[in-house]
Amino acid sequence: MPVITSIDDLHRLYARRAPKMFYDYTESGSWTEQTFRDNISDFSEIRLRQKVAVDMSGRSTATTMAGREVSMPVALAPVGLTGMQHADGEIKAARAAEKFGVPFTLSTMSICSIEDVAEHTDTPFWFQLYVMKDEDFLRDILRRARDAGCDTLVLTLDLQILGQRHKDLKNGLSAPPKLTIPTMLDLATKWRWGLGMLGTKRRKFGNIVGHAKGVSDTSSLMSWTAEQFDPQLDWKKVERIMDMWDGKVILKGVLDPEDAKMAAKTGAAAIIVSNHGGRQLDGALSSIRMLQPILDAVGDDVEVHMDGGIRSGQDVLKAVAMGARGTYIGRAFVYGLGAMGEAGVTRALEVIHKELDTSMALCGERQIADMGRDNLLIPHDFTGRWA
Ligand SMILES: Cc1cc2nc3c(=O)[nH]c(=O)nc-3n(C[C@H](O)[C@H](O)[C@H](O)COP(=O)(O)O)c2cc1C
Repeated sequence: MPVITSIDDLHRLYARRAPKMFYDYTESGSWTEQTFRDNISDFSEIRLRQKVAVDMSGRSTATTMAGREVSMPVALAPVGLTGMQHADGEIKAARAAEKFGVPFTLSTMSICSIEDVAEHTDTPFWFQLYVMKDEDFLRDILRRARDAGCDTLVLTLDLQILGQRHKDLKNGLSAPPKLTIPTMLDLATKWRWGLGMLGTKRRKFGNIVGHAKGVSDTSSLMSWTAEQFDPQLDWKKVERIMDMWDGKVILKGVLDPEDAKMAAKTGAAAIIVSNHGGRQLDGALSSIRMLQPILDAVGDDVEVHMDGGIRSGQDVLKAVAMGARGTYIGRAFVYGLGAMGEAGVTRALEVIHKELDTSMALCGERQIADMGRDNLLIPHDFTGRWA
């Protein structure tokens, strides 16, 4: 058993164990990948204020996110094709999250279906929706999520059309992978992954295959997106979908203060400041840089969460101290999953929790809710560098 002390360790192991096609799918941003890189590097511009001689006993990182009690302000972000990173990946990640006391969000584009994940977990998970053109499909998938016990809908707003990731096109990304010579040569070295996949039936888009009509290639994410996703999604349709769901909704993918104000008006339980992990509009500012302007724009009108670039508990602490009520990890949990299955996701959560808790203590705080702007050192021009 390797000694894992950081998310980087999991990342290295993941790179060795996952097929290249799925590693590249995770480890890419769109076009030049500038926003993907900035999401991570901008966190390091913010520093923490060290405090000494304060009682550090009796600490807690517990709080709530959109009304859900959480052991720390971190949820698992929706990640498509998670079940290709490791056999039964969504079920394993959902179980790890459940045991840790943080929410798991199931992507529309998952391999394990909504029903499958529900069958293997006890705590309600959150369901992420991509808005498709087919209204029957939309109603049906919302009904399925409700029937499976999902108590929160995470509605993604920043992917009506797909940002281009060069490697996915070059690798011919598909689920399951098509057996070309380069793929077979790569898979020959990924025996753990192969054994896992041989032992499961879950190898297709479980929420879609058999449920949606009119898609030419059922294994291609690119075909699904181009043919099914609704490019006409606007605020009116957002509100209509929220009515259809008739429950708690979190709006994901807001990066602009004016959009955030619109989102707050919908009555959503929370918004997620996000640029899809740098996978959509390359050149957009990082999520952590846009967090403060968005918090200023919405005030107390809506709970604000963020994701993008979180690779440590210190990143979580910085976002929370700035004012985010919760954060989400995408790649950080995928690294764990691809490296070591459920145990790897648990390890990722443990690493982040330890870093969060220790850093909070060294900042002189005992409760996560007490972290605030005072605990941070932010460069004067951090948010105001762009007109
Ligand atoms: C491989 C991958 C697949 C993703 N799939 C989805 C998805 O299906 N739905 C969605 O709303 N966001 C998706 N996202 C975006 C994540 O939910 C999240 O916004 C992003 O990963 C956060 O950045 P981070 O990976 O740096 O933590 C995906 C991200 C990655 C890396």
